[in-house]
Amino acid sequence: MSGLGGRGARALRLAVLASGRGSNFEAICRAIDAGLLDARVVVLISDRADAAALDKARARGIAARFLDPAAFSSREDYERALADCCEQAGADLVVLAGFMRLLGKTFLSRFPLRTVNIHPALLPSFPGLHAQRQAIEYGVRFSGCTVHFVDEGVDTGPIIAQAVVPVYPEDDEDSLAARILEQEHRLYPHALQLIAAGRVEVEGRRVKVRGEKGDEE
Ligand code: GRF
Repeated sequence: MSGLGGRGARALRLAVLASGRGSNFEAICRAIDAGLLDARVVVLISDRADAAALDKARARGIAARFLDPAAFSSREDYERALADCCEQAGADLVVLAGFMRLLGKTFLSRFPLRTVNIHPALLPSFPGLHAQRQAIEYGVRFSGCTVHFVDEGVDTGPIIAQAVVPVYPEDDEDSLAARILEQEHRLYPHALQLIAAGRVEVEGRRVKVRGEKGDEE
């Protein structure tokens, strides 16, 4: 179980973690504004002072926090501070949106099956950095993006949703990344809404989405 159903009429409270430009964060905010996602971003946290995502949050009046990894003596201390910040904001779910750090047990034990990520490839293909470049170099005809729960591996957690895009012979890393990003902006809010609606259940490494085609109920 994801344990995120049963909030009554209360919107799902999201803590978004981002290291860069924050276009997925923006897409999530737009989906909320449009009434397509029953959630609220309670805090945006970045590990980079110069992340555009911080400015985007401030412009929307959302609490924006820069947590400097250099100010902590160990990875565990940093993760504890991140988890404290999410908890203090009252987050139900932690949403990684271009957050360029791996999270370990110290953080994940505080938000078990309550941390999600988006990856710009069809996992389990091309995990880790430069997923779009890996796809081009491998020569696949299709790639895409994956929303998954975060576990202690690198992009290995249970898969919630995926979207597919074609890869054309003339594509380079940038053109493929742009095609995938368009799908990311649609897929991430959609996957978050499935969670917000309490439709997502985790059984081992398989995610069951209630009401999805093929579901018995
Ligand atoms: C996206 O491609 C996402 O899949 C990856 O990092 C990138 C973040 O982009 N995890 P943005 O900061 O949301 O624009």
